[in-house]
Amino acid sequence: VYPLARELRRRGVRVTSIVGARTAELLIVQELLAGVSDAYEPCTDDGSLGFHGFTAARLEELLAGGAAFTCCFAVGPMPMMRAVAETTRPYGLPTFVSLDPIMLDGTGMCGACRISVGGETKFACVDGPFFDAHLVDYAEAVVRSKMYVDEERAAVAGATGVGSTEPARSAAVGLAGRGAGR
Ligand code: FES
Repeated sequence: VYPLARELRRRGVRVTSIVGARTAELLIVQELLAGVSDAYEPCTDDGSLGFHGFTAARLEELLAGGAAFTCCFAVGPMPMMRAVAETTRPYGLPTFVSLDPIMLDGTGMCGACRISVGGETKFACVDGPFFDAHLVDYAEAVVRSKMYVDEERAAVAGATGVGSTEPARSAAVGLAGRGAGR
């Protein structure tokens, strides 16, 4: 989400970044993102920094407060991106999610990264990673993303001895409103 925010800013778009994590210490790329954002909104599950709650809840607050966003990009865990999609849907705010399903060849030939968007089959590796958030079949995407959880857990346990594949829970939402300083 950082290069996205940076490029939007470079093009004169006003950028609001909402970034979330379980606790303040787990927030990533804070300085980088804040440096290319007109507004930077940290969120933590435990309230240790910024908004106390999830990124989608802070987004809802801003939208309900009349924030004039013209586009929304969500990057992070599937539940967060799904929540963002449901948050922006009633506002008719164009929203895009960055999907990273399991990939094998990365060339659009193997079908491993298949997802459904608006009833059509897409391959995240060549058609994505960004897709219309309001058209993604999240239920299917979640099922497919968990297809190899047992094997992943076994592989990680074998490699590290840790025995857990739970990903770092951090999330970023970049929101862009038109017309910074214009
Ligand atoms: Fe094989 Fe996308 S990774 S089609």
